[in-house]
Amino acid sequence: MNVLVLVGSARPDSFNAQLAEAAVAALPEGTAVERFDRFHELPFYSDDADANPPAAVAELREVCGRADVLVIATPEYNASVPGSLKNGIDWASRPYADSSIRGKRVAVLAASPTAGSAESAREHLVAILARARAEPLARTVGIAAAHEAFVAGELADAEHAAAVENLMHELVSAPVHA
Ligand SMILES: Cc1cc2nc3c(=O)[nH]c(=O)nc-3n(C[C@H](O)[C@H](O)[C@H](O)COP(=O)(O)O)c2cc1C
Repeated sequence: MNVLVLVGSARPDSFNAQLAEAAVAALPEGTAVERFDRFHELPFYSDDADANPPAAVAELREVCGRADVLVIATPEYNASVPGSLKNGIDWASRPYADSSIRGKRVAVLAASPTAGSAESAREHLVAILARARAEPLARTVGIAAAHEAFVAGELADAEHAAAVENLMHELVSAPVHA
């Protein structure tokens, strides 16, 4: 199984990057993992560039196409997902007849340093992915007080770690679509 990992933050010390790596660590041994981290290089989506897209868009579509399933860890920005992540999903979902994320199961996770667990961002991301005809898992994982949640890159709280582990188990256990 080939897992593609996407992080909605380019911040070097991103809590969501740490959460994504905690998710990767919870995958079964031997799982192939790819990462795409060029969201900041993508131009704003335009139908006109669909047929002949810039290199970063072509790479995004390729890695999505190769993936069996996706893991997305996103910050919450003003009660939703960062525009850069939404823009990337828009690119990956087109051309409509050839969407690179169509039918792909997706695990959604989010971390925030606030008292909230980025619930709104998680709900929005699930809705965006479903509209784009991906298959987001109904269950998501949200981490509040993220600045206290990680110790040396690992989730300190056993309940958090178990929630991530269960989500990764669900992600890789169901049959994948052709
Ligand atoms: C433009 C902007 C809007 C934000 N809005 C929210 C928000 O609505 N809810 C929230 O919990 N945190 C919000 N935050 C704080 C982020 O959760 C925080 O910056 C977090 O560390 C970003 O994730 P990262 O560590 O992966 O980069 C916002 C941050 C920015 C820059």
